[in-house]
Amino acid sequence: MAESVSAPRRPFISGNWKMHHTHLDAIAMVQKLSYLLTDADYQAVDVSIHPAFTALRSIQTVLDADQIPIALGAQNCHWESKGAYTGEISPLMLAKLNVAWVIVGHSERRQLFGETDEWVNRKAKAVFAAGMTPIVCCGETLEERQAGSTESRCLGQVSAGLEGLTAEQVAALVIAYEPIWAIGTGVVATPEDAQAVIGAIRVEVGRLHGAGAAAAVRIQYGGSVKPGNIAELMAQPDIDGALVGGASLEAEDFSRLVRYRLT
Ligand code: 13P
Repeated sequence: MAESVSAPRRPFISGNWKMHHTHLDAIAMVQKLSYLLTDADYQAVDVSIHPAFTALRSIQTVLDADQIPIALGAQNCHWESKGAYTGEISPLMLAKLNVAWVIVGHSERRQLFGETDEWVNRKAKAVFAAGMTPIVCCGETLEERQAGSTESRCLGQVSAGLEGLTAEQVAALVIAYEPIWAIGTGVVATPEDAQAVIGAIRVEVGRLHGAGAAAAVRIQYGGSVKPGNIAELMAQPDIDGALVGGASLEAEDFSRLVRYRLT
């Protein structure tokens, strides 16, 4: 029997709060979450939360003070470390707040704010340069899926987003496959459909960055992930985690997502 090439990959559940929760609501949410999650949860699963920029400092303080092993994440950043970019936030500023993960290229940024593959790539490199790790997003529209171009769309976004990164960097980062038609719609991709795209992404990473990077890179699924559907998604061989929007906003739901293995 052929030896498996897949490295053990730690499950990774991330909560993308988008433009929700004031810093006060965010503090309350994290405190509640920390009561619900246990050491056993943190031993089994990596957890990150991605509040709005205005809540990062407050959440950093809560996580530090209570030594809560939840990683702090941001939802976006600029690629320059400083400059005349009104309204932007630099990777350096995030790193100083102990931010560990930065989502880059979320479909909402691409669709609503005109982010291009080239920007996503610049951001991914800048995040690494500041000592953090990017979560690089990809995903197709419903029209692209219906036209049969899901794979080419996603693989194109991944290859452009990761261009010029070292194999070590690719091994360390996270890719989030989020079909746009599944985001916030309640329509979740079937585990088989999600696995098919994510498996193809892993093969593409191998082709471009080597077998070691492909075996190590963690790939999350995102799009209407709920406590009731996460276990079957996580059971797929190439799905290593979830990037969760709506169901990450309440501590109860999010803790159930982190505990998917017990449901
Ligand atoms: P929902 O979980 O609300 O569908 O959002 C998914 C998402 O966009 C996470 O980044």
